[in-house]
Amino acid sequence: MKDLAPARDRIAELRKQINHHNYRYHVLDSPEVSDAEYDELMRELKALEERHPHLITSISPTQRVGAAPVTAFGVVRHPYPLLSLGNAFSRDELYAWHGRITKLLKGQPVRFVCEHKLDGLAVALTYVNGQLTTGATRGDSLNGENITHNLKTIRSIPLSVAGDVPPRFEVRGEVFLPKASFERLNRERASQGLPLYANPRNSAAGSVRQLDPRVTAGRALDGYIYMLGYAEGWPLPPGHWETLQYLSSLGFKLNPHNRLLSTIEEVEGYYEEWAEKRHQLPYETDGIVVKVDSLEQQTGLGDVGREPRWAVAYKFPAVQGTTKLKSIEISVGRTGSLNPYAVLEPVSIGGVTIRQAALHNEDDIRRKDLREGDSVIVQRAGDVIPQVVAPIESKRSGKEKIFSLKDKLFSKEKGRPVCPICGTGIYRPQDEVMYYCANAACTAQIQQRLEHFVSRSGMDIRGVGEKLSAALYAEGLVHDVSDLYYLKEKRADLLGLEKLAEKSVDNILAAIKTSKKRPLGRVIFSLGIRHVGGETAEILAREFGRLDDLAAASRDRLLEIAAVGPKITDSILAFFGQEENRRIIQRLKQAGVRLETEAATGEMPLAGLEFVITGRLEGLSRHEVRSMIKALGGTTKDRLTQSTSYLVVGKEPGSKLAHALKMGIKQINEDEMRRLMEPNK
Ligand code: IVH
Repeated sequence: MKDLAPARDRIAELRKQINHHNYRYHVLDSPEVSDAEYDELMRELKALEERHPHLITSISPTQRVGAAPVTAFGVVRHPYPLLSLGNAFSRDELYAWHGRITKLLKGQPVRFVCEHKLDGLAVALTYVNGQLTTGATRGDSLNGENITHNLKTIRSIPLSVAGDVPPRFEVRGEVFLPKASFERLNRERASQGLPLYANPRNSAAGSVRQLDPRVTAGRALDGYIYMLGYAEGWPLPPGHWETLQYLSSLGFKLNPHNRLLSTIEEVEGYYEEWAEKRHQLPYETDGIVVKVDSLEQQTGLGDVGREPRWAVAYKFPAVQGTTKLKSIEISVGRTGSLNPYAVLEPVSIGGVTIRQAALHNEDDIRRKDLREGDSVIVQRAGDVIPQVVAPIESKRSGKEKIFSLKDKLFSKEKGRPVCPICGTGIYRPQDEVMYYCANAACTAQIQQRLEHFVSRSGMDIRGVGEKLSAALYAEGLVHDVSDLYYLKEKRADLLGLEKLAEKSVDNILAAIKTSKKRPLGRVIFSLGIRHVGGETAEILAREFGRLDDLAAASRDRLLEIAAVGPKITDSILAFFGQEENRRIIQRLKQAGVRLETEAATGEMPLAGLEFVITGRLEGLSRHEVRSMIKALGGTTKDRLTQSTSYLVVGKEPGSKLAHALKMGIKQINEDEMRRLMEPNK
């Protein structure tokens, strides 16, 4: 092992210097070094941290979202600073804030807009003549990084807005990675031996600050707009609430849970409600933001330093707890990876009882120095999958056991470590962090591959969950994923399974049929090629257009792709090199599963999209629009639901428009509709 001490010392020294310069620059407003000198320090620190990722800590200046932009991206100067928020950590502090503002407003009635405090990355989007021209991070509040190309890959950010809009305006909002995508990303990173993102905020920042926008595109980022930055030469609505409605009508995505309230007691009620329900949300939120509605009152209240007096972040209590790590056990993943997980003494955190937590890999366990028998801090960061944050060293008795995967799986009988399910030997490929079961026919692996294939992020075959895929396999109806598409020939056998009723069988067969048209990226991901996560799969789909072309790709061709390194290349070549896998793909093709991208087939640009129409469309009858949408792979409905993708708004729209605004459904006009239909024009 190389001596890490010099790197560690230099990193500590760099952090100290950078923190000092940050303070001089941001707090005292009196820098001692030039920007270039500062950048150089930061670059050196980043390079060192990249080489020694285990030395990165959450308080390193490189991890700070608000740090001055040091960047290959270019700097954007914000015409108006992006402010931050003061915090309230208790009911008393909320009321103290309320007391201060009512006093300053001399008892005028105040209305409040309550919003979720989103845990992502603040962005400012500038539109000139209706076109998105610049997207930037907050940076140090006055200078942000230019991340326009990356933000353009986020579907919920409109590239243009139509209608009567200010010639130049800026909206601000938060870009985030939904919990499920965050967990998926971390699982993928763990299997590739990359350092994990500590929370969705970190991962959002990491995702938009990629030099290759294709990486950002693969990350399923989302975002909500939460305020208007400025609108030049334009009369503004008198309140924040109306401004939000206006932005929504332009097609910006707003959080549907925003609310306009009239008393501080109602604000408290909103807080209580979401403190409870926030775990059900698909995104992370660490509190609520309370904003004074009236712009006139906002101006009257003004700012203190970089924080407006007219808004406050009322934080939720942390969702951490302590418990005992009883033992570390091992499960087998779909690629045969042997995945350690923590068995915990049950503990209730934020109203949910936690019994287990993922531990990713042996290196991660070592890095955190987790030992069996330790008292540990546990937190629910993402959705349901909890994390073990750290051991509480002061509570150690000395009896705790250092974990070794090989010892754990050691079979006395065979004299070596073996797979806990099938008893075959295990191995660890060179340069990898994971161990694997060597038996591709291991029952656990086959079942997991099936589960992965039908899962939501895979082919999304509703009705075939964990239980049914296990039963299908156990009964010999499905040996590999392609068999799913031939189940309709075995209807009678299905009826006997798991007490399935006629109706459920119909639904399942229909869901299997629908899945034949999933985008190619999903299909590639669903095949379960080792190291090919959702992100890489998307990139491969776009790069090759056809599964056959990917299967035939040479090593050199694969290595040309920036996001594909030698490890992924080897794994892809190995996968398609296997006769069995080629046979599965052949059978998928025969069954009619689409193995090409839409671009490659030149059809179905509206696949997967659901439209509702309101008002009169120029030049096209309702009927014509409906059949065009259908011909291009989309669907139309009469009523708005949560699954509506777009409301097409014509002349003299009906009440659907107001409903869509409330429900946060995106609206488009006829031109935008046509653009969707002809994406390449
Ligand atoms: S308003 C008043 N609204 O919180 C100016 N900010 O500390 C502050 N944030 O970096 C912005 N959700 O990115 C506002 N609903 C919300 C927010 C929100 C999250 C973030 C914002 C900023 C930080 C402020």
